[in-house]
Amino acid sequence: MPTYILGIESSCDDTSASVLCDGKILSNLVANQEIHKSYGGVVPELASRAHQQNIIPVVNQAISKANIDKNQLNAIAYTRGPGLLGSLLVGSSFSKSLSIGLDIPLIEVNHMQAHLLVHFIDDCGPKPSFPFVGVTISGGHTQIVKVNSYFEMHELGKTLDDAAGEAFDKSGKVIGLKYPAGPEIDKLSKKGDPNKFKFTKPKVSGLNFSFSGLKTNFLNFINKQVRINEDFVKDNLYDICASLQHVIVDILMDKLIKASKETGINTIVICGGVSANSEIRKILKVNSEKHNWKVHIPKLSYTTDNAAMIAMTGQLKFENNIFSDYETSTNPRLKI
Ligand code: KG4
Ligand code: ZN
Repeated sequence: MPTYILGIESSCDDTSASVLCDGKILSNLVANQEIHKSYGGVVPELASRAHQQNIIPVVNQAISKANIDKNQLNAIAYTRGPGLLGSLLVGSSFSKSLSIGLDIPLIEVNHMQAHLLVHFIDDCGPKPSFPFVGVTISGGHTQIVKVNSYFEMHELGKTLDDAAGEAFDKSGKVIGLKYPAGPEIDKLSKKGDPNKFKFTKPKVSGLNFSFSGLKTNFLNFINKQVRINEDFVKDNLYDICASLQHVIVDILMDKLIKASKETGINTIVICGGVSANSEIRKILKVNSEKHNWKVHIPKLSYTTDNAAMIAMTGQLKFENNIFSDYETSTNPRLKI
């Protein structure tokens, strides 16, 4: 008998639903919230309102695209945290109600674990072997984790301030790019010289990160240059983007090399929105040869927030009989 899991993700600004059957994704729908673009970042209250509007149509579409009836579902997996409280509440309340209505088990999922476990979906290529070093780089998180098994994960380091995605997005805003600026910086960088401008690399001990100093350094640099030449950004856009991207990727790679050396682990798994970055993907391949790493890079559709990763984690919990009760509350600061 096949097992059908419905995954629901609503931790930030994407409402997503996915149906998974025995490791295979049958549907993975994501409703992006365009409204945040005009504010230059995610507005929590607007995000929860949009989730409220999107969740029923997105779940309905995910079920119909999977070509099943909702009564065939075996369990519902939802994001318990971390994330924005109002956003998490929409997904968790909906999932609890549907689980009661269909009389099927409920499974809570840690969003950060799910980002890493996305690599166990069938169409993600060879599955990583344990233990591995996982790096989650997104708009909300930058974290290095030692993953011993599906549910035994230990944080080795994290950002002390901004996330890697914020370094892209906030710096992009300074040069007039729309939120989220990461994908645009990636595109513009392809035509630029990564060594044209030098930006600050922070000195942070251990495996932690810091990106706020770089953001300030970038802002001051641009302001100074614009005072000299008001068209500085326009005249140098490609080189500015390539140089900024270069330093962000460098900061990430330094810590990744350190993590691999310190743990003695050479299986490296990356995930999160920023793992879509083409330069990171390129450098990881170079490093895999140089350091004898086995690198796992997700498909583009599984990098940004998606419910497929929630459904996958749900399936792994289902197989291990790990279920949740209805009293479990959402946790915006849930640890890995
Ligand atoms: O994982 P995600 O969808 O949401 C969070 O949980 O934060 O990540 C979104 C982040 C944004 O900061 C966005 O700018 C960044 O991922 N991003 C990229 C690229 N694609 C998305 N950053 C750099 N290069 C990209 N190609
Ligand atoms: Zn995420």
